[in-house]
Amino acid sequence: MDLAALKGKVAVITGASRGLGAGMAHEFNRHGIRLGLCSRSAPALPDGPDVVTEQLDVRDGDAIAAFADRTAKQLGPIDLWINNAGVLEPMRPLRDIRVEELRDHLDINVVGVFNGMQTYLRYLRGAAHEGVLINISSGAAVHAYAGWSAYCAGKAAVDLMTECVALEEAGGFMRVHSVAPGVIDTDMQELIRNSTADDFPEVERFREMKRDESFNSCEFVAARLLEIAFDPSASHDEVVLRLPAEN
Ligand SMILES: NC(=O)c1ccc[n+]([C@@H]2O[C@H](COP(=O)([O-])OP(=O)(O)OC[C@H]3O[C@@H](n4cnc5c(N)ncnc54)[C@H](OP(=O)(O)O)[C@@H]3O)[C@@H](O)[C@H]2O)c1
Repeated sequence: MDLAALKGKVAVITGASRGLGAGMAHEFNRHGIRLGLCSRSAPALPDGPDVVTEQLDVRDGDAIAAFADRTAKQLGPIDLWINNAGVLEPMRPLRDIRVEELRDHLDINVVGVFNGMQTYLRYLRGAAHEGVLINISSGAAVHAYAGWSAYCAGKAAVDLMTECVALEEAGGFMRVHSVAPGVIDTDMQELIRNSTADDFPEVERFREMKRDESFNSCEFVAARLLEIAFDPSASHDEVVLRLPAEN
């Protein structure tokens, strides 16, 4: 892909304080992409001429809409929006999960994605600008794990919600994808490795991954997402995508 062509593009990343969101922010910044970054704690890059930051909760749709507005006013039309913010907990058998915990989880991982999608869609239509939206999904959308009922349900919902929007917006201003990024060594993975086999029976497999360092790097994921968004030679037919293993 022509990396020089990325310079000056504008991308929004939610969940940009740490982990994959922070890693992507650094990579995109390196390519000269201007950024709108948000998370509850401070995003990984400071505010500046090419970076707009906001501390917000993706559960708050009004806050996301105001942030999109401010980003576009300061940086110009938004070319790419990545709904990356997400949580894993509660991670234990469903019989031990309180309904409030499930609601809270889905409020972030599904309603948060809905808020980002709706905001970006309304923005693009209002601005008559064409853009790409990527929801960060997971292999857990299509593979059941004992202990991950909330997470699997939420990510499956994101995949299907994305496919519905792809149908609704076909031929319109927004191209949408839901992308499983592979396993990346973030706080979320540490949380998994620190769980117990009672709560998450497959924990040992994830500890082995750490011993083998068999992860996808943020740099690799960022590069693949930029291809999906901006490489004219890439196929854009599939809505739900799964990134390959880096090594
Ligand atoms: N790591 C993996 O192996 C892996 C694999 C497949 C998919 N994913 C997906 O990749 C995405 C990023 O995961 P990660 O591993 O980077 O996790 P992480 O290290 O725990 O980071 C999660 C990010 O989301 C933000 N966030 C969480 N709740 C939020 C809320 N209510 N409002 C705004 N921001 C919120 C966090 O910031 P604050 O806490 O400051 O708000 C943080 O920046 C998630 O959607 C995850 O499901 C990860």
